[in-house]
Amino acid sequence: MDDLDLRPRRTFAVISHPDAGKSTLTEALALHAAVISEAGAVHGKGGRKGTVSDWMEMEKARGISITSAALQFAYGDHVVNLVDTPGHADFSEDTYRVLSAVDSAVMLVDAAKGLEPQTLKLFQVCAHRGIPVITVINKWDRPGLDPLELLDSIEKQIGLRPTPLTWPVGIAGDFRGVLNRRTGGFIRYTRTAGGSTRVPEEHLDAEAAAAAEPDRWAEAQEGHELLSADGADHDQDKFLAGQTTPVLFASALSNFGVAQLLEVLLELAPAPGPTTAVDGGQRQPEDDFSAFVFKVQSGMDTSHRDRLAYARVCSGTFERGMVVTHATTGRPFTTKYAQAVFGRERTSVERARPGDIVGLVNASALRVGDTIHAGAPVRYPPIATFAPEYFATVSVTDTGRWKQFRKGIEQLDQEGVIQVLRSELRGDQAPVLAAVGPMQFEVVTARMEAEYRAPVRLESLDYSIARRVEPEQRDEVAALRGVEVMQRTDGVLLALFSDRWRLEAIERLNPHLRLEALVAG
Ligand code: G4P
Repeated sequence: MDDLDLRPRRTFAVISHPDAGKSTLTEALALHAAVISEAGAVHGKGGRKGTVSDWMEMEKARGISITSAALQFAYGDHVVNLVDTPGHADFSEDTYRVLSAVDSAVMLVDAAKGLEPQTLKLFQVCAHRGIPVITVINKWDRPGLDPLELLDSIEKQIGLRPTPLTWPVGIAGDFRGVLNRRTGGFIRYTRTAGGSTRVPEEHLDAEAAAAAEPDRWAEAQEGHELLSADGADHDQDKFLAGQTTPVLFASALSNFGVAQLLEVLLELAPAPGPTTAVDGGQRQPEDDFSAFVFKVQSGMDTSHRDRLAYARVCSGTFERGMVVTHATTGRPFTTKYAQAVFGRERTSVERARPGDIVGLVNASALRVGDTIHAGAPVRYPPIATFAPEYFATVSVTDTGRWKQFRKGIEQLDQEGVIQVLRSELRGDQAPVLAAVGPMQFEVVTARMEAEYRAPVRLESLDYSIARRVEPEQRDEVAALRGVEVMQRTDGVLLALFSDRWRLEAIERLNPHLRLEALVAG
């Protein structure tokens, strides 16, 4: 085992709304880590355009590995795992489930737009799971909101107290650097042509800062003092307890604030800890190997019905080739084909430690939420299902394929590709599919045709909100106009509403009804 294997891990995800800069930040973090690990070497290559290929070169040269699920790189005496949260058009349950595989999250906010809807949904999942959140205000190089107002609005929306670790010197659009609120010093940023990978910062003490940027520094000082007077200072216990969120100001495009984010992740973000099993027992990171599957990807290679299961290591050391136990069936599972995947390129993963992500190939037995382990048996709790917002009926177009249709829908439900809802009223011919993003429907349509040879027709339903209903109130809720009650495969009863206004009106008129919001609902 080499040193890298034993370094402490930091496993996190970036939660953001499309266009906030997640891809830019991801590249900047990996490039910065790579540049730094070359002990002060300066990469003269300007221009972001070349970074993807630079990145792949670096992957070979310095052991950065990228899977379509996770990016891993060494930084200082740590190994950092950035688990990807699929977003944009492919926003789906996977996006939420990824958050079960991380120990902390970076909430990326566009300085001009503030907190946006997709970020808020993902934040709610973090809050529900008790994942500590670090906030990064991005694009400070462009005109944006006033920093105090921005923090105020974030606090109102998420209920966490923002505790800035840095404070911008210069308003949004005039980013000179940051005041480091823990040292009182000035981290001055210097723009490099096209945002090169060179580390663009200089550290000055307060006196030198006041001389270099008299007006802007005085203004930043004032902001810093105002925050301190208001008690908005970092407190590690409150951060870990999910009561506060440390805040950094950045411009991912210019590499400003990227180094500070890495430092904060290493210093403040939690390391992989014990994992609680279904029976309430805990597996410590140094115990025998165990991992759980948080994502399954199928059909990447149609010629071999390829199924790749991504597992997060919870305890022990994973070694490729080891035979582990699949907790659900008790059967042995061989890991000969553990891989890291980047685009079409796959490389073998030889060893992984708690916090790391491994891709298991040909994992047809593994489903989302399953546990695999060595040594003493352990089973981790299933991953929660999330509040769907898109609904459609599904039916088979060729009734001769009815058996395959039923089997396929059942499989996709079990795999966690889609939630399937049923009711007596609708019968078995056309169950309702529920999703958190419309891409999930496309996946169902494609897989039903390709894998089960049962082409389907989907008809979207005019619902956008689901609430959990108590069994004893089922009939009463079902009798309301415009509301439908259906049962999910796990037995949970869901009432479907066309929109928030309809739901609110019903709640106002029937205050005794218990209509419980689901996670991220
Ligand atoms: P995403 O993955 O969150 O969707 O965002 P992405 O990184 O693709 O960034 C979205 C757009 O915002 C890109 O511009 C990107 O260059 C820009 N951007 C990201 N970070 C910053 C920043 O710190 N400052 C400024 N000014 N812009 C930033 P684009 O025009 O859509 O694409 P491109 O042509 O620049 O690639």
